[in-house]
Amino acid sequence: MTENMSHLDHYPELLDASSAWTHDFLPDALKDKAILVTGAGDGLGATTAKTYASFGANVILLGKTRSKLEQVSDWITQHTQTSPVIVPCDLERLDEDTVSKLGDAIDGAFSRLDGIVHHASRLGPRVPLEHYPPEAWQQVMQINVNAVFMLNRGLFELLHRGPKAVVVHTSSSVGRKGRAYWGAYAASKFALEGLSQILADETEANGQIQVFSVNPGATRTAMRREAYPLEDPLSLPLPEAHMELFLLLMSSLGDSPVLTIPTGQQLDARTWQQDLQRVPQA
Ligand SMILES: NC(=O)c1ccc[n+]([C@@H]2O[C@H](COP(=O)([O-])OP(=O)(O)OC[C@H]3O[C@@H](n4cnc5c(N)ncnc54)[C@H](OP(=O)(O)O)[C@@H]3O)[C@@H](O)[C@H]2O)c1
Repeated sequence: MTENMSHLDHYPELLDASSAWTHDFLPDALKDKAILVTGAGDGLGATTAKTYASFGANVILLGKTRSKLEQVSDWITQHTQTSPVIVPCDLERLDEDTVSKLGDAIDGAFSRLDGIVHHASRLGPRVPLEHYPPEAWQQVMQINVNAVFMLNRGLFELLHRGPKAVVVHTSSSVGRKGRAYWGAYAASKFALEGLSQILADETEANGQIQVFSVNPGATRTAMRREAYPLEDPLSLPLPEAHMELFLLLMSSLGDSPVLTIPTGQQLDARTWQQDLQRVPQA
């Protein structure tokens, strides 16, 4: 149970979710940190961006649809003292030059990059592999995994500049155990888990960057609706239900980390409390 999250009065859904939190976060826990959130126009990405901004972070909102990013940015400007930046960008077409310009823009705006949360993703067709359209396969792999590699690679130097940085890869249960008809989406999430483990291993000795993968589990968003059109959305948790975990993953950036989670952890938003009890603390 949290002590006092009244600074979240502007965000009733998060305030409500915070009543179940087992950790307390200071209102300025992420003050002045610069965090890039992809897929920030909708669902978990928009919620993560609004949450981090509500705890003081300057968020860089990357997503495909400009109008959605503008809405999130307007909300943040209206309700927090932070400075959001929007980056409309189709990750399907991401190239080295675009990533380099993004790095320069972040450097110019904040002179730092403390974290990245990779939420952007496409579901793709839900058909057997024998009928899976090759163009759709390429598109899903491009957005869900190749673009993540490109962003991590191109922004690595900026991430490495500060005292600490955190990279979070948003995965899925079908990225940990394959399931029929999940095609490129599942394959891309397996690849994402691999990317996350490799980056965690490569950066562990230095200790400056922490890398995680998170499976949010069934959550009330557009993607979930697309995957399960007949499901009652009200039976699913809001994205705000997972924000304690997304705050904890970034908490080591602040002066007084709430909990230090060892790098490389593969977490599940539904069971992370029990999972972390089994993990030796760093
Ligand atoms: N919701 C669930 O039940 C669930 C379960 C397991 C895992 N996840 C994972 O959680 C993450 C967030 O998903 P969500 O449920 O919040 O989905 P969502 O509401 O559909 O949001 C996905 C976001 O990705 C962006 N995106 C898609 N294609 C893009 C592209 N080509 N370039 C740039 N941005 C692009 C979308 O932007 P536009 O809206 O502008 O197209 C949107 O903001 C994903 O990685 C997903 O795989 C979700």
